[in-house]
Amino acid sequence: MKHELTNVIEHDNFQGEYRILRLAAPVTGPQVKPGQFLGLQVPNLGERILRRPFSIYQADASGVAVLYKAVGRGTEAMANIQVGDTVNIIGPLGNGYPEPDASKTPVLVAGGYGNAALYILAQRMKKKGIAFFGGRSAIDILLVKEFEELGWDVRPTTDDGSLGTQGLVTDAFDPWAKKQDFQSLEVFCCGPNPMLKAIGDRAIAHDFTAWLSIDRHMACGVGACLTCVIKRKTDTPKDWEWSRCCKDGPIYESREVLWDE
Ligand SMILES: Cc1cc2nc3c(=O)[nH]c(=O)nc-3n(C[C@H](O)[C@H](O)[C@H](O)COP(=O)(O)OP(=O)(O)OC[C@H]3O[C@@H](n4cnc5c(N)ncnc54)[C@H](O)[C@@H]3O)c2cc1C
Ligand code: FES
Repeated sequence: MKHELTNVIEHDNFQGEYRILRLAAPVTGPQVKPGQFLGLQVPNLGERILRRPFSIYQADASGVAVLYKAVGRGTEAMANIQVGDTVNIIGPLGNGYPEPDASKTPVLVAGGYGNAALYILAQRMKKKGIAFFGGRSAIDILLVKEFEELGWDVRPTTDDGSLGTQGLVTDAFDPWAKKQDFQSLEVFCCGPNPMLKAIGDRAIAHDFTAWLSIDRHMACGVGACLTCVIKRKTDTPKDWEWSRCCKDGPIYESREVLWDE
């Protein structure tokens, strides 16, 4: 993990409410593993100095890109970032996804920025599989064409039926998964926590592996403040321990996560 002062080379509308921010980051870019994220200091944010976490959508020797949506003060202030500005980042942060098991069928399940978070994984995996993407409406489902161009079979679901199956992502995943040998699946999931839990519950019930990227509020991003802790199951008499999503995660196997009811 390194601090880097990066130069903004692209900042534009991407799709729907999402914008793309591309940074020249020759130190960070080459180190990125799939599923890792950046701690980005939003310029000119006055008293709100905490970094915001963003999954790394693209990375190469020259830099990184993120796709983001404005949901509050920090992300709204990002709209003022101009091409040529300097942006301070730390990264790559977090553990990232493990090396895929070549003997299994890879399955991606994502929604919202989760599609962007899985893109590098999808790009670097030798074996392409099936991708279930969920969203409210067609405009909310990012990168369908890009995943298809990589060779993934993309199955969208939308709440309003404007693209793919109408319903939740599990309404497309469940009937497909029932026709497979469950234990041959390896699922990589990034999206809202209810989606992660739904996939995690199925992984435990049907005994397949599911890697979940847990979304928690983060303050420091480097394991120092404990803002982002979750309960991780252990074999100890207490059964669980606190785990820092920013440093020990954000990727956990479904059996490790003790969800707060
Ligand atoms: C590992 C990780 C990767 C992420 N990657 C991306 C990404 O690639 N693109 C993207 O658009 N967003 C991503 N996020 C979410 C993003 O970090 C938050 O939207 C951002 O920090 C909000 O900052 P803000 O100051 O605009 O909002 P705040 O003013 O802090 O909050 C505004 C609203 O958003 C909610 N909120 C804030 N942070 C989160 C969060 N982590 N999860 C759920 N709700 C939250 C608050 O409860 C509040 O309702 C990621 C989060 C994590 C933990
Ligand atoms: S955000 Fe500070 S410990 Fe995770």
